[in-house]
Amino acid sequence: ETTAVILAGGTGQRVGLSIPKQLIKIAGKPVILHTLEAFEAADEIDDILVLMAEGYIDEVKAMIAKAGLQKVADVIPGGSTRSDSTKAAIAHVEARPEASERHRLVFHDAVRPLISRRVIAETVAALDRYDAVDVAIPSSDTVIVTRTHGDDGEFITDVPERARLRRGQTPQAFTLATIRAAYQAADRDPQFEATDDCSVVLKYLPSVPIHVVAGDEWNMKVTQPVDLYIADKLFQLASTDVPSPDEASYRERLTGKTLVVFGGS
Ligand code: CTP
Repeated sequence: ETTAVILAGGTGQRVGLSIPKQLIKIAGKPVILHTLEAFEAADEIDDILVLMAEGYIDEVKAMIAKAGLQKVADVIPGGSTRSDSTKAAIAHVEARPEASERHRLVFHDAVRPLISRRVIAETVAALDRYDAVDVAIPSSDTVIVTRTHGDDGEFITDVPERARLRRGQTPQAFTLATIRAAYQAADRDPQFEATDDCSVVLKYLPSVPIHVVAGDEWNMKVTQPVDLYIADKLFQLASTDVPSPDEASYRERLTGKTLVVFGGS
C-alpha cells in the first residue's frame, strides 16, 4: 500500500496573500488541485491523505468532490509546523487497521503543482530497495554559508563545492516504520527543528541510507510572489502540448518543442 501525503497545512506568509498559497488559482485551478490530480493519475499511488490548514478543510473537501477525485481518503488538519503536519499524517495512517510496517508514505508539498509522473514513479520504485528516498536537483547558483555580525550584516563563512550541492524538493518517501522511528527520536530532542522529512531521518536514524532520485526544475515550490507568475507561465506552456493524460510526460514533449523555438528554426 502506498499513501501520498499532501502537506497543505501552511498559510504561505512569504507569498503574503489573504488565502493560503495552495488555494490560489493558477492556470484556472487552485494550486492544490493541480497537485492532487497529479497523484490521482499516478498508478503507483493507492490513496491520498491531505493535511490542510485549519479553517479551509471544508473548502478543500468540496473542491475534491467537485473534481471527482477518487483516491483522496481523508482531509485532516495540519499541525502548526510542517513537521507537526508530517507527524499528524504518520499518526493517522498508523491508526488504520490495515497499516503495516512496510506501508509506504510519499510526502509531497501541496505547493509543488508541477510534479511529473516520472518523479512520482521513480520515487515510489526506489522504496523497493530503500526505506528513505529524497528528490533533488543540482544547484545552478553557488551556495554560500553566512553568519550575521551584529549591525554589520552578513559575512561568508563557507562556500561548499557546488558540484556536490543539491536542492531538495519533494516527494520524500519512507516506509511507515522508518519515518515513525525518526520522529519518535526527534520527539526526545528539545532542540528539534526541521524544514523537511529526510533531514529528520538523516539526523535521528543515521544508519538508514537515503536514496536520491533526480527531480526536475519544473517541480518548483510556490514560495515567493514571483513564483505565481512563473508557475502560471509553465502551466500555459504545458497546456499548449497536452493531447491526453496518457501521453508520455508532457514535460518531455514540451522540452522538444521549446528547444525548437529557442533554436530559432
Ligand atoms: N506545511 C504544512 N504544515 C505547516 C506548514 C507548512 O503542511 N504547518 C506545508 C505547506 O502547506 C507547503 C509545504 O509544507 O505545502 C512547504 O512549506 P512552505 O513552503 O514553507 O509553506 P508555508 O509554511 O505555507 O509558507 P511560508 O513559510 O511562506 O509561510
